[in-house]
Amino acid sequence: MQRKNIGRSDKLKNLISASVLSADMANLESEVRKLEENGIDMLHFDVMDGVFVNNISFGLPLLESIRKVTDMTLDVHLMITEPHRYAERFVKSGADILTFHIEAESNVLETIKSIKATGIKAAVSIKPATPAESVFEYLPYVDMVLVMTVEPGFGGQSFIPEMAEKVRIIRNKINELGLDTDIQVDGGIDGITSEIAKKAGANVLVSGSYLFKAENMAEAANHMREEVQC
Ligand code: DX5
Ligand code: ZN
Repeated sequence: MQRKNIGRSDKLKNLISASVLSADMANLESEVRKLEENGIDMLHFDVMDGVFVNNISFGLPLLESIRKVTDMTLDVHLMITEPHRYAERFVKSGADILTFHIEAESNVLETIKSIKATGIKAAVSIKPATPAESVFEYLPYVDMVLVMTVEPGFGGQSFIPEMAEKVRIIRNKINELGLDTDIQVDGGIDGITSEIAKKAGANVLVSGSYLFKAENMAEAANHMREEVQC
């Protein structure tokens, strides 16, 4: 199967990444088809190890199975300790974008570089209590920063409004450095909070429960994608 892999230099402009955590896991292939038919840009794959976060989700075998049935961009969010130990395996299993938490890794820069060396996109993520400034030193090396807008671990939580300021601080720094790094937000993103996040400078929106519960998924995604005046 031809892989529609996002190239390293392709910009991710106001894209929607659907979190499969909210999908019907017993009918995953038809859920993936639904995402494709509704023009969803990426599939967000949440990996939880029960240690870094207080929940266990799924891992490499499921990613491999999804890779076999779709050419959608697979946006993998690792919520695991010592992500460098697994990075290569997630790339081999089909990740197109690999995101890990800086709180979980002792050698962040080396991990970023090892992901980039495989040819896919690398991203770092921060939990709500981690300050915006902690990602500054990595900005020249990553394709994307994921600002968690809920405490990682579960879908269906409410957006934490204070996280918008964090997005704004990181977007300003990206602009100051003359970079075009993407900012992704994840957690409690819906028709209203997506506006807040975009105004603050986010351009990749993860959505789980809102998207999967929407009566018209394509319409919900289009609404979230709309450009806003910053
Ligand atoms: C939470 C996950 C999210 C979650 C989003 O730890 O990283 O991706 O599935 O789900 P909603 O959109 O329902 O908050
Ligand atoms: Zn996620």
